[in-house]
Amino acid sequence: MNPTPKAVIAALLGDGAGPELVGHALATLKVIRPICGLDYEVSTFPCGAAYWKLHGEEWSAQARQFCESRADAILFGSVGVPGVERPSGELVGVELVFFLRLGLDLYANLRPVQLLTSLPGTPYAPADVRIHLVREATEGLYARMGGSLNRGQRPDVAVDIRLITVKATERIARFAFRLAERLALAGDSRPVTCIDKSNVLGGCRLFRRTVQAIAEEFPKLPLKFTYVDNFALDVLRRPQDYSVCVTSNAFGDILADLLAYHEGGPGMGATGNFGDRLAMFEPLHAKGAVNPIAIHRGLAMLLAWLGEKRQDPCFTRAAMRLTDSITEVLKAGQVRTPDLGGTAGPSEMSQAIRQMFLRLSEKEGR
Ligand code: IPM
Ligand code: MG
Repeated sequence: MNPTPKAVIAALLGDGAGPELVGHALATLKVIRPICGLDYEVSTFPCGAAYWKLHGEEWSAQARQFCESRADAILFGSVGVPGVERPSGELVGVELVFFLRLGLDLYANLRPVQLLTSLPGTPYAPADVRIHLVREATEGLYARMGGSLNRGQRPDVAVDIRLITVKATERIARFAFRLAERLALAGDSRPVTCIDKSNVLGGCRLFRRTVQAIAEEFPKLPLKFTYVDNFALDVLRRPQDYSVCVTSNAFGDILADLLAYHEGGPGMGATGNFGDRLAMFEPLHAKGAVNPIAIHRGLAMLLAWLGEKRQDPCFTRAAMRLTDSITEVLKAGQVRTPDLGGTAGPSEMSQAIRQMFLRLSEKEGR
């Protein structure tokens, strides 16, 4: 019998705090490895604006080939340096983000929103914040179709086409309902929420109709609809009403950040971008006050994905224990970063998570 090949991870460092954060996550992974018996290899690649300044490209051909043909999972720092722009005015780094999503067909952007423990500024109890925002990631307003026109030698007209197709909507809807199915098995009976603006936009009417049609494949799962503007207020007031929420690309982008309000801020959340074979994980933001919790939650999502993809319970266990470790460190409250009112730097915070992982592992008998 052939031994199962190792899990292959690509780490894309990026700009700003990206390299540092990815470094902390990989150091944690090294600590977890022998405890949980994880079999993986990691290759690290620079990318983003700094790379572009040196090489005129946002990443290397090798990095691209590695992600396209070898990697099972990608851990992504962040890209973009303010002021480093292409002649079009687009921030350098954005092209890479879109290559990863469109080029590798990572069509489902999943943003789990969970309050691990009560934190400064979070008005609700942890049990009230269990939302999964599912954002279509390959089309909508970010389809990258459109153009601009100079008239009278001045930029005068710009058009961005909002592309909605049945095919992409069907697969994002199935992704959302499959997730809801799993949550329902764990006792979550709340409906799937479809977020759109179908009172105004034709694309949103198609989106809504298509989600409704896919819902028939999942007759046990209730579905409700809400307009995006109503949702934005209601989810701040009644987060407990929302479980899986499915939406199109630009609405999802905005709501993903908005929902960080329920988690204690932008340093706390992570997102996963899923395709059928490959998935990429990143912190919600790697700017400003650097909190390594976001990338560690991204790492936990990555481990869970590998556990599922490879049917390897070692990865699944590691994912759960890593999330528990983050939660316990936050609950203990001694080590907190400045965005949560503490004084800990990213290294100290990451170290605290690792120590907690070791402690929990001893307790649980590894
Ligand atoms: C995100 C980011 C990206 C997006 C940018 C950097 C293109 O905001 O991952 O949410 O808007 O999709
Ligand atoms: Mg965004």
